[in-house]
Formats: sequence, structure tokens, C-alpha cells
Amino acid sequence: MTTEASSLPTGIFVVFEGGEGSGKTTQIARLAAFMRAKNLTVVTTREPGGTVVGQSIRALLLDPATGELSPRTEALLYAADRAEHVAAVIAPALSNGDVVLSDRYIDSSLAYQGAGRELKLDDVALLSQWATDSLVPDLTVVLDIDPRVGMSRFEGADRLEALSLDFHDRVRQGFLDLAAHEPSRYLVVDATQSPDVVESLIQARIVELLDQA
Ligand code: TYD
Repeated sequence: MTTEASSLPTGIFVVFEGGEGSGKTTQIARLAAFMRAKNLTVVTTREPGGTVVGQSIRALLLDPATGELSPRTEALLYAADRAEHVAAVIAPALSNGDVVLSDRYIDSSLAYQGAGRELKLDDVALLSQWATDSLVPDLTVVLDIDPRVGMSRFEGADRLEALSLDFHDRVRQGFLDLAAHEPSRYLVVDATQSPDVVESLIQARIVELLDQA
């Protein structure tokens, strides 16, 4: 028997944010499976690199061979990747009524280029707002972890991972400040808990969101 995928009037847009090694990839895969089991059509995607052009931008941004970039150049490249991502992937899926799960979005720019690189938050916000035509997620899940723990979970470092712990501490605080500012649109989860516990906390919040949709 084939069950037809059910769709939602305006789709649902959920973003996962957090520092390095916070377990976003695992949790996105688990949430996608949970929502697919509810017969929803789920698109999983990521930034940077969720489009063909985005993959070239991603390579530029993350390759240690790129060397130092002006923080403004870095912010513009992430914003360009995001503009294409929204136009080519996210907005079309949402207008189809699909669920979109994105590994990172605007808050990564606010946390890394704003809090981390110390560009003015308002400037970074304005840039992303323009790039996305003001598309805001329905829910942002912040997987919170001390960078000392997160960074010890993997080996090797790309251009941003190689930055100081001070930088990553500012990034972490950047995410927590954004969440504290708008608790109704955020779920902050302690990512040092077991993957099963993290998964069930996220599912509980998603069930609430689906009930409202
Ligand atoms: P990625 O390999 O996707 O890392 P992760 O698995 O941690 O998501 O690399 C993305 C890197 O780009 C990560 O260090 C965060 C950084 N980033 C920004 O600095 N600004 C942004 O706007 C985005 C989307 C990512």
C-alpha cells in the first residue's frame, strides 16, 4: 500500500544551529526520519553549500588554503550562499508545503561573523535579511556545547574550526543570546546529553509545532 505524503499549508522551516561537534548531523537525520514517518515530505539541506553555486562558495570559505579573508568578505560570501539557498531550495520547498530541515542559517552568521569576528550584529542581520527576503525559521534548535568538548569530538580543522577557543566561546554565547531574546522561536538543548535524550527533547517540541500548523 502506498500512502500519499501529506503536506502542510505553508511548510515548516526548522533550523539547527550550534558549535562544532554539537551533533547537528545526527539529530537532523533522526528528526527527518521522525517526520517522514508522519508522511511529511522532508528536505534536508545545509549552509554553506546547499546549492551547486553554494558548493563553490563553501569550498572557498572552508578551505584553509583560502587563508585570511576580511570579515566583511566572509560575511558577504555566507550571505551570497544563503541568498541562493533560499531562492533555489528553501522557498520552493516551503511553497510546496514541505518540511525543510537546514543545518545552519542566519544565526550562524550572527554568531560567527557577528559575535565571533566582531562585525556589527545589526549589519550582519541586515545583510542576511536582504539575502533571504526576510524568511525566518518557524523553529531554531540550538545544540549547545562547550567548544572544549565539541572540538574534541573530531579531528582536523577547516578554516573556521582552526580559530581560537575565545572565538568559539563568543560564537556559543552568540547563539545563546539570540535564543534568550526570542524563546518562543528557539529550543536550546544541552548537547552533552545522550543522542537519544536530545532526540526526544527535539521531537517533543516538533510535535507542538505540528499541532499548531
Ligand atoms: P561545516 O563543515 O558545515 O561545519 P558544521 O558541521 O560545524 O556545521 O562548516 C561550516 C562552517 O561555517 C562552520 O565553522 C560555521 C561556519 N559558518 C559561518 O561562519 N557563518 C555562516 O553564516 C554559516 C552558515 C556557517
